[in-house]
Amino acid sequence: MTFSDRINHDEQADCEGCPLVPERREFLRSVSALALAAISLGLPIRSATAKVLASAVAGRKQLSYAVPAVDGADIDRDNDVILVRYKNEVFAFNLSCPHQNTALRWNETDLRFQCPKHHSQYQPDGVFITGRATRNMDRLAIRRDAANNIIVDPDTLYRSDEDAAQWQAAVVKL
Ligand code: FES
Repeated sequence: MTFSDRINHDEQADCEGCPLVPERREFLRSVSALALAAISLGLPIRSATAKVLASAVAGRKQLSYAVPAVDGADIDRDNDVILVRYKNEVFAFNLSCPHQNTALRWNETDLRFQCPKHHSQYQPDGVFITGRATRNMDRLAIRRDAANNIIVDPDTLYRSDEDAAQWQAAVVKL
């Protein structure tokens, strides 16, 4: 039974003996279609939750994440941070595309980031592959603390075209 069939089956079971409400049926169809589209496009399905830590600098914060258990991208939409584990390295990126600040998407199938606006693509380590952007994804300052958590400073951003050495060094090696 497909996901869509299951929805229709549940829908009929819930409403046995009563007419289906057209709006509800349409809503369930839309949800089902969106879910299937997201799966087939490999859109981001993992999300990260940060523990917010006080920073030594007033008015700023630091974010603490558990080390991702497996390779892939985790999106923290509350803080506009992407956390990536890839080949025993962890990176933190700003969620925005460096071209015109559109929220990037992770394509699990191709293991790359894609911008939905002008279709720039980036490797898991943020290196630019193709598209209208003119630099790599912007990395955030990152370190590992004594308790083995990943600590990200969302206010310290490195651009590969202006801070090449710091951009290169913004990685935690596992
Ligand atoms: S905003 Fe991403 S490529 Fe233009």
